Amino acid sequence: MNHQPTEFATRAEAFEASEDAPANPSKTRSFGEVAHARYIGRRGLLKGMTAVAALAAATTPMSTLVSRAAHAAAAPFRFDEISHGVDETDHVAPGHSADVLIRWGDPVLAGAPEFDPANQSAAAQSGQFGYNNDFIGYAALPFGSDNPERALLCVNHEYTNEEVMFPGIERQDKIGFPKMTRALVDIEIAAHGGSVVQIEKVGGKWRPAADRSLNRRITADTPMRLSGPAAGDERMKTSADPTGTSVRGTINNCAGGMTPWGTYLMAEENFNGYFWGELADDHPEARNYKRYSLPGNWYAWGKYYDRFDVNKEPNEGNRFGWVVEVDPYDPTSTPVKRTAMGRFKHEGAETIVNRDGRLVVYQGDDQRFDYLYKFVTHGRYNPNNRAANRDLLDSGTLFVARFDANGGLTWMPLVFGAGPLTPVNGFNSQADVLIETRRAADLLEATPMDRPEDVNPNPVTDKVYVMLTNNSKRKEADENAPNPRAPNTFGHIVELSPPDGDHGALNFTWDILVLAGDPDDPSSKWGPETSRNGWFGSPDNCAVDGRGRLWISTDQGSNWPKTGTADGTWAMETEGSARGSGRMFYRVPVGAEMCGPQFAPDDRTLFVAVQHVAVDGAKAWAPFGKNSSYEDPATRWPDFKADMPPRPSVVAITKDDGGVVGG
Ligand code: FEO
Ligand code: CA
Ligand code: CA
Repeated sequence: MNHQPTEFATRAEAFEASEDAPANPSKTRSFGEVAHARYIGRRGLLKGMTAVAALAAATTPMSTLVSRAAHAAAAPFRFDEISHGVDETDHVAPGHSADVLIRWGDPVLAGAPEFDPANQSAAAQSGQFGYNNDFIGYAALPFGSDNPERALLCVNHEYTNEEVMFPGIERQDKIGFPKMTRALVDIEIAAHGGSVVQIEKVGGKWRPAADRSLNRRITADTPMRLSGPAAGDERMKTSADPTGTSVRGTINNCAGGMTPWGTYLMAEENFNGYFWGELADDHPEARNYKRYSLPGNWYAWGKYYDRFDVNKEPNEGNRFGWVVEVDPYDPTSTPVKRTAMGRFKHEGAETIVNRDGRLVVYQGDDQRFDYLYKFVTHGRYNPNNRAANRDLLDSGTLFVARFDANGGLTWMPLVFGAGPLTPVNGFNSQADVLIETRRAADLLEATPMDRPEDVNPNPVTDKVYVMLTNNSKRKEADENAPNPRAPNTFGHIVELSPPDGDHGALNFTWDILVLAGDPDDPSSKWGPETSRNGWFGSPDNCAVDGRGRLWISTDQGSNWPKTGTADGTWAMETEGSARGSGRMFYRVPVGAEMCGPQFAPDDRTLFVAVQHVAVDGAKAWAPFGKNSSYEDPATRWPDFKADMPPRPSVVAITKDDGGVVGG
């Protein structure tokens, strides 16, 4: 094929920056208590005004609630920072241990073979931990508990890096890997998707449990159901699925979320890259696909599988770009693509129960100049009847954000028939609006953002944090109030404030928490306690701990020389005098990206995901000075064995005295 893009140094950069600028510039607590602690906003609880609040209050001592809220501004971090830097291994703050919990290739399913990278097969990979772990979700065991020492870890496997996965596939300036055989593509397909792995903490250390009965691998070939307004639409039908209601697999699952009823949301991000071919300009889907840069021609899958060739199966691309809901407690359940939440390059899908009981899902569309979304369910979450929540995500309103320069934000509904979303503009149903979410949002004049990644509500303060990674293509003429730098090399963090904690409201206010980059750069903005190691670039994923403090992980790609440090995780106060001050806690090995920060319910473990080890910018690391290959990678973390390639891995960070991570 001759459609492979050539301007990107790595697959990761191609995914993240995505080619052309888009068209628009405790163990025994009740389940109710668990829901309160982790998903329900503070004001909703304290006001006691609603059904959910009343339910939570009925099962939870109010003193507990109040004390949690009081901690929000009175819990300084107590750890010594680590230093900026880049080397072959990972680093964590003194007094903590960072232990590898599970690596690419480790057996997940009962009977799966041990990892033998030189002789890998699709059959082996489909039972083993996949590649490029990104989102991490914690589903406590047993279901309904808040057990901080046993869980089903839900982990996304976003994509694959052939040059360090397979012998003999050297890196090329173009990213099509012509040497990819069907057997290697099949391994890739099996290395995508997600893993559900039972883990346990024994003697203060985490390990995969011997009981694998609930473990699961989801791959790019796992049968799934399509649901919601776009399911069954003509544009969703293919020769393999004439009903438009079932699809095989999920791809490019970046971040995600967990629901209060214990399901796992997998966000499909750069789905376009897996499609091959070239759609004619007059094809009915041409305008739609162009807005998503589909086909991306980044993988060789279309060479072997017609469904990934747009010329042969032109509707298959409409069946990706959704949020997938998985019940990790039932390994036989069918994952469901919930189309009501829209089709775009979903970075994540973090949830909070609004004070009126509706679930709100915050979502970023990670591409330069794309948008910020929230989905609000029509129905209310029922904390006492899990089955009643089963299809809650099929019915609701998707909103896109328009910021104004005075600190206001309007959530605009993407509803067929409203405003410009009519047949005149090519929308004939809600299915059309959802399949072409981006174009619908363009017409509503949503605010073009600098790559919206993780969007995390803070249940302690009811604020919402938006990670905006960077935007090398923003020109001064494109500047807008929430994206004030052109170019935006280091990204920023926007804080949203729902009125009186009402996440369902149509109007919020906003502020900029951090403008990342060197604090000596006058265009940056940091809290007063940010040290020479406390600043970072390219915020990507984040987590909020039980005290409402923000933990931020970065994805600089090959730009890490601009900060002089590998990616990592930084802790940040969001309230009080140190608001906006960063503190460096963990650092990844050379060429890796930091993903998935996720706390155990007691905050005594922080799980992090280290992906694409040895890939990004290895050439710029002086001790190595070249691009990595399977045979000669910049680092062989985490095993450091001559016959082992670098391996994306989930790391469990604990405090050596057993206390709360970060103090
Ligand atoms: Fe897969 Fe936008 O990070
Ligand atoms: Ca990301
Ligand atoms: Ca997150």
